Amino acid sequence: MTSDVMLKLEGIASAYGKIDAVKGIDLEVKRGQIVTLLGANGAGKTTTLKTISGLVRAKAGRVLFEGNDITGMPAHQVARAGVVHVPEGRHVLRGLSVRENLELGAFTVKDATLRKDRLEQVFAQFPILRTRANSDGSLLSGGEQQMLAIGRALMHGPKILLLDEPSMGLAPKLVLETMRIVKRLNEAGTTILLVEQNARLALRLAHYGYVLESGVIRLEGEAKKLSADPSIVQAYLGS
Ligand SMILES: Nc1ncnc2c1ncn2[C@@H]1O[C@H](COP(=O)(O)OP(=O)(O)O)[C@@H](O)[C@H]1O
Ligand SMILES: [Mg+2]
Repeated sequence: MTSDVMLKLEGIASAYGKIDAVKGIDLEVKRGQIVTLLGANGAGKTTTLKTISGLVRAKAGRVLFEGNDITGMPAHQVARAGVVHVPEGRHVLRGLSVRENLELGAFTVKDATLRKDRLEQVFAQFPILRTRANSDGSLLSGGEQQMLAIGRALMHGPKILLLDEPSMGLAPKLVLETMRIVKRLNEAGTTILLVEQNARLALRLAHYGYVLESGVIRLEGEAKKLSADPSIVQAYLGS
């Protein structure tokens, strides 16, 4: 039997006007895995996630999800198919309560009972969000806002989560907490494509890793192998 590839990028290229941000990359995420996409600032990580989720249009190549070509599909449709993007910077909506922020996450879910069940599941996973349900989302701490952003994504019932630097700007303790959350979501059955600046941490969690450099995949392999190779660590992953 062939391996169960859930998400596959074939020769994906994306540009902003004349700036080529992603230059023809191949990438695979197998069902049940955590795959991490690493690379320096400006390498094209965010653009890759946006191309998958339909926020940026691919210039070339294909995105396949569960064998279906989703290239160029509008973002809401991609989300409805089960590919859910948690953007960089969290984007908690000011002036809306935690509950309203979560309910907005479920805009693709038509069934009211399902929306309610999902909200209950998110509150069960992140009890702090229940406690703060009526507070303005923007008043939460950085760590809580990250939980809210992930919680909002979970309201879609994702098959695969695209996480863009979830630990960015968080205190070290919260970075570890965020990684534990990612691991727990994965163990509960969600496949994950994780963009992280903390390469060591990400590789500890992930099954497989890719290193992007100037829009090109420079390196890929089992996470254990990548993190065990000192030359790779030095050249690509920083101290
Ligand atoms: N909205 C945009 N308009 C123009 N150029 C952009 C835009 N977003 C990103 N870029 C450029 O595309 C390249 C890749 O950016 P990005 O995908 O954000 O990288 P990363 O997430 O790895 O830091 C960079 O050169 C960046 O300056
Ligand atoms: Mg980025």
